[in-house]
Amino acid sequence: STGRIILGIETSCDETSAAVVRDGREVLSNVIHSQIDLHQRYGGVVPELASRRHITTIIPAIDLALEQAGVTRDDIDAIAVTEGPGLAGSLLVGVNVAKTLALTWGLPLVPVNHLEGHIYANWLSLPGEEPVPPPEFPLVCLVVSGGHTELVFMRGHGEYELLGRTIDDAAGEAFDKGARILGLGYPGGPAIQRAAEKGRLGRFTFPRAWLGDSYDFSFSGLKTALLREVEKYRRPGPRKRRQKGDQPFLTHEPPEYAPNMPVNDLAADYQDAIVDVLAEKTIRAARETGAATVLLAGGVAANTLLRRRLTGALDIPVRYPPPILCTDNAAMIAGAAYYVQRRGVKAGLDLDAHPQLPL
Ligand code: KG4
Ligand code: ZN
Repeated sequence: STGRIILGIETSCDETSAAVVRDGREVLSNVIHSQIDLHQRYGGVVPELASRRHITTIIPAIDLALEQAGVTRDDIDAIAVTEGPGLAGSLLVGVNVAKTLALTWGLPLVPVNHLEGHIYANWLSLPGEEPVPPPEFPLVCLVVSGGHTELVFMRGHGEYELLGRTIDDAAGEAFDKGARILGLGYPGGPAIQRAAEKGRLGRFTFPRAWLGDSYDFSFSGLKTALLREVEKYRRPGPRKRRQKGDQPFLTHEPPEYAPNMPVNDLAADYQDAIVDVLAEKTIRAARETGAATVLLAGGVAANTLLRRRLTGALDIPVRYPPPILCTDNAAMIAGAAYYVQRRGVKAGLDLDAHPQLPL
């Protein structure tokens, strides 16, 4: 094969993924082993279980990624891996396997920031799809995932200027906790979106934390407001009675509610409150920075309401990856690695995982 072919490895949270990407643009394969089945009953990711699952699935995922891409290890030009941010134990599995492959195959090792990966998902085209034109700089990118809510300004490749970020919960976390409060299950984003589509808007008034002129975000007040609303429908009973200091949204079992609780309407207004703030701040940032493009990235970028709110709100292109490239995957890591390597970044075999790595 021609072009620069990179094998990407991503194990930062609860997806085990390996992918092959050509020239930072063309996805040749993208194998994702989801751990949803494993964590579902806990209502969130259990770190210890996540790393144990990664260690049994990562090598088969790599084998399959090479096979599906129709390449052998002789075609690979570099090994890319997520070095952070993420769960320490999970990251270590990917970092260790990447180092071992780089050593035994004699290939350069490219460390990739997980958030950078999410952003560069916007440069990718899936197998069988027409390649998309590369996004035009300068751009504003809203990175919204289970662990992150960051508004970033980019003048060019690899230049990240942080405009704002969440001061408490991430946007995806707000979806996940909201879903847990509503008894909708995990992961919460898709569940809330589905419920909201069946619901009616405007029955509940949930707070929007504008935080003045800043580009920072806050979602914890919204979560508390939902909890307060839902408590009105909570079934009293000897075993479910609230104790002082109880945080029902942190327990594993969803609480019992009266059957007349308007779950779908609550989901609709809750989703609207999250998306409202995300969209408004992104639109304002694009105007104030004179951006040529707006990008969405991360798991919450799969949200159809968020996409709809931003599209057409500005007279510049608003772009987002296909849903499969929004949530965690290794194609975005192999894609970003092309640009990371181009600016001369490489790692030695002493590479460590960096759970708190900033962009
Ligand atoms: O990027 P990602 O897979 O993992 C992290 O890096 O955190 O994002 C996962 C997050 C979860 O919080 C999930 O609820 C949210 O993305 N998510 C969505 C949707 N699909 C996934 N949130 C809102 N609407 C969606 N359709
Ligand atoms: Zn992610």
